[in-house]
Parts: sequence; structure tokens; C-alpha cells
Amino acid sequence: MTTPFAKILLFTDVHLTAHQSPIIGLSPAQRLKDGLAHAAAHHKDAEHLVIMGDLTHHGDPAEYEALAAILQTVPWPVTLMLGNHDRRAGYASVFGRTGFQQTALVAQDHRVLCLDTLDENAPDTHSGLLCAERLDWLRAELAAATDPVVVLMHHHLVPTGFDGMDRIALRNTDEVTAILESSGKVRQVINGHIHRTIQTHAGTLPVAMVKSPCHQMPMALGDGSSALSVDEPGGYGVLLLGQKQCIVHFEDFGIPEAPIWNEEGSHTP
Ligand SMILES: [Fe+2]
Repeated sequence: MTTPFAKILLFTDVHLTAHQSPIIGLSPAQRLKDGLAHAAAHHKDAEHLVIMGDLTHHGDPAEYEALAAILQTVPWPVTLMLGNHDRRAGYASVFGRTGFQQTALVAQDHRVLCLDTLDENAPDTHSGLLCAERLDWLRAELAAATDPVVVLMHHHLVPTGFDGMDRIALRNTDEVTAILESSGKVRQVINGHIHRTIQTHAGTLPVAMVKSPCHQMPMALGDGSSALSVDEPGGYGVLLLGQKQCIVHFEDFGIPEAPIWNEEGSHTP
């Protein structure tokens, strides 16, 4: 890129399965490979790849092994986050990392805080939580940050209009939003979990939600289940970080690449 931005690729909800098991007839592994190939073709200048949770569908070691094999081929450093479909034991058995997976990335003029909202003891199985230990880490990172902060998390802070998903959001959302807002340093919050591209806000904080490379939430607002899925094009996010601004772009892939026309009436490819 010629513009003074750092670029970070944001994938989420890849839901890898083992042994080629499909989800609604789709191959999560093929969808992830297709998305990464699209990103390599169009965004090879990215500095980093973050996968924002639901790395696997069941949290089994074989699924994490499949993910590790795919990630061996990518040209970017990778940060992995956990979601409600992940399991810490399975993740640790392959990637060797135990405990809460919270990381601070340093990118151009920004700190990118990757939070771990997985609650394996959730009463409803799939909602998220930032416990006291994880909140202490977040407060310390926010206090120490001298640059604007972007927060990445799997679960969502605010309702989306998909009632089934909103019942399995982050459970202590008011507490977390207050911590983020009161720091005065957070420019953007980005989450996955919904499997749909959404823009909203949490208090004064802009919130962007990135869709899955595989199955999506159908556009069925209201009192639906959290388990609805539809075969629509996969996607990922492209985060640009600059001195005065952060920008979230949304890319779809698996659709025909249309020619790009110029003023002279010719086009590429
Ligand atoms: Fe998911």
C-alpha cells in the first residue's frame, strides 16, 4: 500500500471440522482456504492475521490440527483467539498455549487488544464472559496504552436484532463497556460470533462485526434461534490503522471477480 496505514486481516468463526465433515453442506476447511487465498491475492501487504474465535466447531484436537496445517501456508504472522465453539484443552493440545488467550499487538500508532471471552462453564453453553482476571488484564493494558486502542473480541457487547444470538452475547457487557469507554483510548471494537456483517455502537464506541468465511446468519431478524445458518458468500475484515484513523473494510470472496473498468473504457483483468 502507498497510504500510511498498517493492515491487519480479521477472520472469525472458521468452525473447522475434522475429516472433511460439512456444515450445512459447506466445507469449513475449503472456505477458509478460499478466504486465505483471496486475502493473499488482494492483501498480501497485510502485517498480521487474527482469527477471532470459533476456530473449530467442536473444540476437538483433530480440528485444531487441521487448522494448524492450513495456517502453515499463510504468509503472515498469526494470532488466534477463542470463541464459544472452542475448548481450551483441545486448543492447548495442539498449540501448546494454556490459560486465557489475551494478547496486545502493536501496530502502527495503535494497540490492538485481543480478548478471550470464552466461558466453558456458561449456563447456556454459548454466551461469553470476561472474568475478574481477564478484566484486570484489560484495565492494565488500557492504563498502559499510549496509543489509541482497537479491541477485538469474539462475543458481542450490544444487541444486534438477532434475538437468539443476543441471548448468547457477552454476559457482563455493561461492565466491559464502562471499562472501555472510561479509558478514553478505545477507537473501535470489533467482534465475530454473529456470522454477519454489522455496524453499531456500544455507548460512544463504534462496533463492527465481521462475518464468517463459511456459514452465515440468515437475515431473519427477531425471535429466531441462534443456530440458524445460510449458504451465502464468505467474508473477512481488513483493518487499516493510521495515525489519525482506523478503518474497517469488509471483503467477500467466492463470488465471480468482476472486471475493474477505467475511464478509457478498458478493464482488468
Ligand atoms: Fe461462530
